[in-house]
Amino acid sequence: MKIAIDGPAGAGKSTVAKAVARKMKFNYLDTGAMYRAAAYAMIERGIEPSDREKVLSALPGLSMKIVYKGGSQKVLIDGRDVTPYIRTPQISKGASDIAVIPELRLKLVDLQREVANEYDVVMDGRDIGTYVLPDADFKFFITASPRERAKRRYLELKETVPDADIDQIERDIIARDKTDSTREFAPLRQAEDAVLVDTTDLNREQVIELVSGMISGAV
Ligand code: DC
Repeated sequence: MKIAIDGPAGAGKSTVAKAVARKMKFNYLDTGAMYRAAAYAMIERGIEPSDREKVLSALPGLSMKIVYKGGSQKVLIDGRDVTPYIRTPQISKGASDIAVIPELRLKLVDLQREVANEYDVVMDGRDIGTYVLPDADFKFFITASPRERAKRRYLELKETVPDADIDQIERDIIARDKTDSTREFAPLRQAEDAVLVDTTDLNREQVIELVSGMISGAV
């Protein structure tokens, strides 16, 4: 079975996707982590993720693998686990920039489809229901207002970054939404057959309940 969960940054997709995967005993694939790892690999090589020409020439030498350790996903670049380094604001922006490049996307989509061919999966991203798995058994589009998404990020960040600025976070989120939804190839978009879940006024448990309820009510 394939479950596609798409939506903008910070809407809570990964929390729901992970919880649903755990309940169903499916593998969870966070495709955003793959774009983040690609951006990280380029920055490490001294290449700006928005520099299309340089990214294209480095692409054949980019070796990415997805492995599961203790139930959680790790992204390996050249055999090295880069998962701990890909959650910074610099990498968030880099991932959104590199995700515009079709050749890079095709390489990652091949890997994503390989995982889906091998296992039952819950996959989250931006283009899973529209492009990667158009025949998914269930499709959800999870969203929330930019302010609410910024508020959630701020509460998460506040622990480690005491001077985190909610207005700046909101501006970054809006900028990323724009890059993700206006790119030409496989943009962020709700699939016609996806269920829209607006989580602005829902808590984590309510969203998990709602999505899992729809799946178990239908299988
Ligand atoms: O979900 P995330 O914030 O970790 O994703 C990081 C970036 O990767 C996001 O801004 C756009 C890109 N992305 C994408 O283009 N397609 C996907 N399926 C997943 C992520």
